Amino acid sequence: MTTTDAQYRVAVIGAGGKMGMRVSNNLVTTDHVVAYVENSPTGQQRTIDAGRELTDAGTAVSDADIVVFAVPDLALQAVTADLVPRMKPGAIALTLDPAAAYAGLLTDRDDVIRAVAHPCHPSIFLERTTPEEYADTFGGIAAPQDAIAAIESDDPAKKDIVEATVRAIYAPVLDVHFVTIKQLAQLEPTLVETVACMIGALLNEALHETVHTMGVPEPAARSILYGHTQVALANGLRGDNPFSDACLIAMDYGRESIIKNDWKKIFRDDELDRNLARMLHLDHIER
Ligand SMILES: NC(=O)c1ccc[n+]([C@@H]2O[C@H](COP(=O)([O-])OP(=O)(O)OC[C@H]3O[C@@H](n4cnc5c(N)ncnc54)[C@H](O)[C@@H]3O)[C@@H](O)[C@H]2O)c1
Repeated sequence: MTTTDAQYRVAVIGAGGKMGMRVSNNLVTTDHVVAYVENSPTGQQRTIDAGRELTDAGTAVSDADIVVFAVPDLALQAVTADLVPRMKPGAIALTLDPAAAYAGLLTDRDDVIRAVAHPCHPSIFLERTTPEEYADTFGGIAAPQDAIAAIESDDPAKKDIVEATVRAIYAPVLDVHFVTIKQLAQLEPTLVETVACMIGALLNEALHETVHTMGVPEPAARSILYGHTQVALANGLRGDNPFSDACLIAMDYGRESIIKNDWKKIFRDDELDRNLARMLHLDHIER
């Protein structure tokens, strides 16, 4: 099939995985010509069950304008080593997480443009008006979200393809924020996984202790935690209401008891490297 100016060719590698299915479900609603590649039998079955045809990797990447690498971060080194050399000159290699790109694990080519794009997920402050928007906590279905993207090229036409692809795969998208690959790695993992997701898991552990160690009825504990989590985030992140004087004292006790004094070391470059090395199962990050 030939493409018009507004259309381009997309290859999705790992089309039957979690992100592969999400991005493919959205790409089918566009006019772009999309090839779906998947190597595991279960992923292949999921792709076929969704009504999509499979294409072999070599055919899919050889004429793609943009290749979406939706494979696990631990597989990206081997998969890009295999497929980037088979991409056409001027094509874009888009990964969905900055870790492997920032760690220097991806195969590069002077005539292939590297890009990374990560969804922000719908904001806790998003004004949701439909049941579908309420239900879509991850994004990519009904609730609008922003996305963060990085591209290693000054060519506006390539940037347009990346932005259009990001808007398509994570739709509905409000804003696409362009940053560097390093800044994207400082956002994810450091800001949102190391801090925000860790605190989300800590809240769940605190709930468990309240119910199972202290013996408070679970509905009461869950209810007061959910409401106060909203207040804590609205006050803490947006300054909606001042915390009470007594609450500030209790917060100080929490900070002294739970947070290490040197916790801001996580924002240093050497700690980012340590974090990424752990995530990617490496001894260290080579620079
Ligand atoms: N899961 C999330 O919530 C999430 C969110 C944002 C970004 N990401 C990023 O998306 C990427 C994919 O993660 P995931 O969670 O969807 O992984 P996943 O394990 O759910 O899916 C990966 C798919 O890739 C397939 N695959 C592996 N090697 C392949 C190859 N050589 N050729 C074709 N297919 C191959 C696997 O069979 C699997 O179906 C990662 O970079 C991840 O960091 C994930």
